[in-house]
Formats: sequence, C-alpha cells, structure tokens
Amino acid sequence: MEMDVRAAFLDFFQQKGHKIYDSMPLVPNDATLLFTNAGMVQFKDIFTGRLPRPQIPRATSSQICMRAGGKHNDLENVGYTARHHTLFEMLGNFSFGDYFKQDAIAYAWELVTKVLGFDEKVLYVSVHESDDEAFKIWSNYIDPSKIMRMGDKDNFWQMGDVGPCGPCSEIYVDQGSEFFHSSEDFFGGEGDRFLEIWNLVFMQYERDESGILKPLPSPSIDTGMGLERVIALKEGKINNFDTSLFAPLMRCIENLTQQEYISDDILLKGSYTQEREHIKARISSFRVIADHARSVAFLLAQGVHFDKEGRGYVLRRILRRAVRHGYLLGLKEAFLYKVIEVLAQSMQSAYPYLLERKDIITKQCKSEEERFLETIDAGMELFNKELYAMGITSQNTHNKQEIHTQKDKKFSGEVAFRLYDTYGFPLDLTQDMLRDRDIEVDMQDFDSCMQAQKQRSKASWKGSGDSAQEGDFKEILSAFGENTFVGYDTDCAQTKILALLDSAFKRVQFLQAGADGYVLLHTTPLYPESGGPVGDKGVLLDLQGRVCAFVSDTKKYFGLIISQVHTNKALTQDQEVLVQVDSSRSEIAKHHSATHLLHLSLRKILGEHVTQAGSLVEAHRLRFDFSHTKPLSQEELERIESDVNAQICAANAQICETMPLEAAKAKGAMALFGEKYADNVRVVSFGDSVELCGGIHVSNTAQIGSFYITKESGVSSGVRRIEAVCGYAAYEWGKKALDTLKGAKDALKAQDVLVGISKLQFQLKELKQTSSHSTASKEFAYEQIQGCHFVVAKLENIQSAQAKTYIDEAKNKYQSVAILLIVENEGKVFIAAGVKNAPLKAGAWVKEVAQILGGNGGGRDDFATAGGKDVAHIDKALERAREFALEYLRETN
Ligand code: ALA
Repeated sequence: MEMDVRAAFLDFFQQKGHKIYDSMPLVPNDATLLFTNAGMVQFKDIFTGRLPRPQIPRATSSQICMRAGGKHNDLENVGYTARHHTLFEMLGNFSFGDYFKQDAIAYAWELVTKVLGFDEKVLYVSVHESDDEAFKIWSNYIDPSKIMRMGDKDNFWQMGDVGPCGPCSEIYVDQGSEFFHSSEDFFGGEGDRFLEIWNLVFMQYERDESGILKPLPSPSIDTGMGLERVIALKEGKINNFDTSLFAPLMRCIENLTQQEYISDDILLKGSYTQEREHIKARISSFRVIADHARSVAFLLAQGVHFDKEGRGYVLRRILRRAVRHGYLLGLKEAFLYKVIEVLAQSMQSAYPYLLERKDIITKQCKSEEERFLETIDAGMELFNKELYAMGITSQNTHNKQEIHTQKDKKFSGEVAFRLYDTYGFPLDLTQDMLRDRDIEVDMQDFDSCMQAQKQRSKASWKGSGDSAQEGDFKEILSAFGENTFVGYDTDCAQTKILALLDSAFKRVQFLQAGADGYVLLHTTPLYPESGGPVGDKGVLLDLQGRVCAFVSDTKKYFGLIISQVHTNKALTQDQEVLVQVDSSRSEIAKHHSATHLLHLSLRKILGEHVTQAGSLVEAHRLRFDFSHTKPLSQEELERIESDVNAQICAANAQICETMPLEAAKAKGAMALFGEKYADNVRVVSFGDSVELCGGIHVSNTAQIGSFYITKESGVSSGVRRIEAVCGYAAYEWGKKALDTLKGAKDALKAQDVLVGISKLQFQLKELKQTSSHSTASKEFAYEQIQGCHFVVAKLENIQSAQAKTYIDEAKNKYQSVAILLIVENEGKVFIAAGVKNAPLKAGAWVKEVAQILGGNGGGRDDFATAGGKDVAHIDKALERAREFALEYLRETN
C-alpha cells in the first residue's frame, strides 16, 4: 500500500509533464536550516531566482523530511498524537514560474478524487482569507459552503523566518463521526476529525531578514502531501502508526517486550475502559520507538553521527528518548538497533541504502544505546529521588505508574541540568518524563546552569539551525548576486572590490589602514573553505603593486565568496586591485588530492561501508573521519599507506569534467550524503579515484610526493579518524623521525639503535635484580577530569600485589578516582584498574586494554585485573586506556 500511493502520485505528475526528482539529503547545504523540512527545500534557490529555471519548469518528488530540533519541530508531539512524526515523507509537485493556481488546483482535485479515489463528499478545503481567486477556482469543483477562509496562521506558508513563502490552500478529509465526537470536531475546529492531507502553496514572495516581503521573479507552486496520513486514510486507520507502514516495527517491539500493541480504533471501541490510560501510555511508547527508529536509521545512513552539538546532538536526543521509552516498557538492554534491522528490511524497496548500510547503522546505534544504558539507571535514580523530595511517587515502568498531576510544582532546574550534564539526559527527555504529571522544569534555574557551562565551551554552532552571523550579507547578496571564482588555473587576478564590511559584518564604504574587515571581490582567485580544505590566504595589491591588505582566510557566506583582511593601506569600495594567492595553496592542494586517494584506499582495503564523516585539509596535514566500527590494525594501516603511495607513484593525471549528476553517479563518482549537488556537477578523477568535488587539486598525483599516516584514533562510536601528511610536510615528518633516530644512536653510543637498546635493557635487568622492590606508597601525576582524579601509568618490575596496593591507596585518598596501571615484568604484562565515583567501569576498561596486549580479563565495576603478553604494544595500550576512559569521563552528555 505504501508504495502504491507514492508511485501513483509521482506517476500522475510525470504524466502531466513533471520531472521526478530524488529525495535530497536530510542535511541541507543551507545554513538557515537544521534539516530538510519540506519538499521545496531542494528548489529554494530556483524559486527565488538565484539558480536558473530548469529546462523542464515542473518537478515532483517524494521527499524524506525531518521536523525535529529546528524551526518546524514536532519532536514533543510524537507518540501522543495521531499524525506527528520526526521523520516523514512529503509528496509534492512544483512549478517554477510555469502553471499557477488554476492548474495546481485542477491537478490536485483530479489526483485526490480520481487517482486516490476519495469520495467528493468527504473533501473540504481552506484558502487564505484574502484569496478570492483561489476561492473562485475551488468553487468550480466543490460546494462553496465547504470552502473556508482562514488567516495567516493556518493559510500562509513559509519555510523559515526568511525565504520563499506565500498564501496557501489546504485539502481536508472528513473522517466521519464514529471515532470523533468532541465539541471541536467540526470543520475549522481543533479536533482531529477533519484531517488536512495536502497543502498547496502559491509561492509569490521571498521574506528577507527584516520581515519584508519581496515578490518572487515569477509566481510558483509548491505543494506538500503527507504520505503517512494518506496511507492511514486509505487503510481506514485513524492513527498513522496503526498502518501497514509501521506494522513490521510494532510486531518487532511486541516481540521484544512481550507486550501487545493496540490500535486506536480497537482501543476506542470500548472494551478497554478500565485500563485505557495505562494502555495509552504503553502504546505511546511503542509509537515513539517506531518513529525514532526511522529517524535514527535515516540520519545514520546519511552520514550524521552522534555528537555533542548540532545535528548529531538532535540525533542523540532522539535515540535517548527511544531508549527511555524502551526502558518504560521494561527493556534494559540495547534494542533499538533490532527495530532498525526490521525497518531496513521493510523499506528496502523504496530506500535500498538502508539495507546496504544496515550493518554499520545497527552497530553505531547499538553502541550509542549501550553508552546511554550505562548511565540511565543512575539518572533515573536521581530523577526519582527528586520526585520523591517533591512528594511524588516514582515511575520506572508503565505498570507501576501512578499519575498525580502537580501543576503548581516545578522540577529543579539544577537537577535537570545535572541529569543532562552528568547522566546524558537531554532536557527534552526530562521534560518528556514529567509530561504525564504536568510538571515543568524550572527553566530559569536550568538556563543559568547551562550558561555557566557554555562559558566553558563556546560552541560556534548553536544547534538551532539558524546561521550565527548574518550581518549585511543578505543585503550585499541582493545588490550584487554571487561572485565568481576564477582561480582553478591561476593564482592571481585583477579585479574590483564590490563591497567592504567591518569586523562586525556591517557594510562600510572604506576600511582604513590597519583595520580588520571583509572584502567581496567581483571575481576572485581565492578559494573559500569548503567541507575539508581550509580557505585561501593571500594579498591584495594596488595597481602599482603595493600591498594594500593581507588576506587571512576566505569563506562562503550566503553564497558569496568573502575574504577576511587586515589592511596595510586604506581600501575603498569600487577600487581595482590585484589579488595574489598565497603559495601555501599548492600544499593545500596536495593534501586535498591525497584525501581523495586515501578515501579510495580505505574503501578498497576496509570495504565499501567506508564513507566520509568529516575532513580537514591544511597546508601541512590532513585529517579524515570515516565510518568504521573497529580501530584499524597495524597491518591495515600499512596497507592503506602503501596503497596511497602506489597511487601517487602511478603519476595519474587529474581529469576534471562537468557533467549531469546522473552521469557522474553512473561513472561511480563518490558523492557525499549531506551535500546538495546542482544538476551539473564537477567530477575530479585521478586513475580509479572519482569524486564529485569543486575544490583545487594537483594536476598529477606525482606532485603529492609521499604520504605518511601519522595517527589513527576514534572520534565517536562508529567513526574513526586518520591523520596524515604529504608533500613538504611529509619530508619534514620523515626528517624529524630520522633526527630522533640519530639522536638515539648518539645517546646510546651505538651504530645500531636496536643493539644499543637491548644492551641497555640487559643492564637494567641486572641492576633491578640486585636492588630490592620498593613497597613505599606512590604519588601519580593525576589529571582532574570533571572532578575525578584520573591517571593511566606504566610501571616496571613490581609485583602485581604492589599495583593493587597503589590502587587501594588512591581510592582511600580521593573522593573520585579512575586509575589504570600497566605493569611490565619479566616479559609479561599485568593490568589493574580501580574506579571510584566515576562514570566508568573498571571491568570494561581493563578488558579493552587487555585485548591490545594479547590477553584477557575483567572484573568488577570498581576493581579489575588482567594479564597480557604483547610487551611491544604497551604504548598503544596506554594510549587506548586513556582514550577509552576519557570518552566516559568527559562525554557524559
Ligand atoms: N512547503 C509546504 C509544506 O511544507 C507545501 O506544507
């Protein structure tokens, strides 16, 4: 059924001359939006005239949309209403200055009555109160008594505070009186009986940041129909979650919890009057889990990762909410990943990539669930303690739940903050937990705790989806349009200053000597920072060749390429200047091209599941984050490094082509989720490496010189990071290594370092045998992490009992401690760890470290030991021990 509605819609509009577009990624390339929240997002720039009108001025799509955490935020309502989702599919048809109201309404009527087969009797429409034209057109199809005029709140649609917008007209379906008999169940009332299924927006304006409406170049059409609702109506269900679309997920949750899911129509038929409230709470949890499984799966599949801020934090919040609802249903172990397995199967025909990436998605999901489950008990305890202090019974499962409303009381903001900061309970999760009791969090209190925290970590991304600094860029954009990059083949150009901004992004006529500010050049050879490579530096010269300003960075703001400058002489608007790009660009280009080669080698050696999760490219190093669940072995790292060097030595020439997106995909070009691509894309190839990329590269891989991996580490669950150097930085890196070796030879007074070291080791051993073992107490170099005394240390030639004594001493001495000791003795390794009052388990910690040392072991949460034999891996084990512990000690939210 699901496929039928989607396919019928797209088919209908294709027959009417519309081009079918794929769903764009959930992460838009648009700073004003957190997630793609409507079908029109991918066409925004066409509506406003910033991009040219496509040859076929009609489009249709089924767009995956997300309404969580941004402007259109439905998260709080999910599970408690019949039709809210964080993730849903929006069917739409679009006209770019082609047809307008007349045809849009005619198409909608034909589709709804003929294709979807709704009886005319159940259909109603609304129009904007001022829209006589739409009213008149609708009167040709429907009795005027069933057309309602409504105000801006209901019938004026806009994407966000800024952007294209216009009056709209909505189509409603009357679901009848069987299940709906509240006093609000009339057309225009607040009840659910009259269900809106389709919104036709008559796009006529663009709203700017001061709220002013400017007419669009030509009136256009944007429509949105909720796929899940239409399927519900077609299946005779009164709740979207009761449809065939969600059935496989509900069956899976039933199996996991051994509890029954009951659909609304059955619940409302009356046989459950007694326990209705309890059942309602239970099925809400089913619905939250089903909804959130979809969001988590799609976001992970599209390359969003769990994070402490921004989109990754919205993802984390959604997962934690689902875990808590599982907890209410009695699930105390990771389960959501199992729901996602079922989801990937059930949606495979429409979204095959879910199934293709199932293994990596479920692994990432499971480890994030486990991480939260480690603190959920302690968090719930704190929460319940606070409720108890307020005189309210605790709530651990739906069965024990007793609901007392306490409207007048507020939940401590300080405790809500502690839940957030230490136990990883996002604020909206705590609010969700208080929802049944009608209790609010003391937000003033919470905000002041948060404020103090923010002082410590100033995050540039605010997580709201709104761009931080708009300044006068929008005004400049409308005055000049986007400027052009001219530096693919040259690193200098003569051009004109179109506009100047001061350091607060305010427009000025000139910048005096010695000032900081920003410059918009008419054409520019300076390449802006772009998803990896840092922006170009350079200088601006006057036509006599005197330096006027130093460019320290170049970035894109609202589509404009803007350079940050410090002036040497005054700059004025309209001045002609020469621009010279800094020579560091060629080293950036080498690291950028090496990043492409590395991406290919990773996929060759580790597998096709590797996708880019982040990238930084500088003149002296590169950093590449990618999805992969395990640390890389030494052997894998060596193979990858050697494969990249082989690609370099093959001296593959750069081939750069522009072609339609479809052709690029057919050629196997690696496109990134989260990137929005134009119809025509730039494809950069070096031998087998083929990527969509707008950036600057070497003309032949041989120019990269050589490539060394300098570090491999973990970023978050399921994401690894490789750092590497090439070009001149590789020479410097090699030189430093050789210098160290030479220094070691000199210090050892040996031609061969290894011989020198083994001689030294022998002497040391002899010395130790003659000296007695110290049993004195020991003071370690502790670090303070979130109030915990933390140390990882290596000791030599002591007995294991001595290490235990040290740990006991540490525990006696400090309130909160996390200590791990690796003891090397006679070619064997012994590991011991102790934890007190810290969010880390000694058993898990030791186990992680023992694996690296070729051993095994574990133990209690507060004390654990293990043995090992790979003495050569001690340094690596020390590093992992630190990394593992810090992940828990630092990142509890
Ligand atoms: N863009 C319109 C909406 O989201 C169709 O409702």
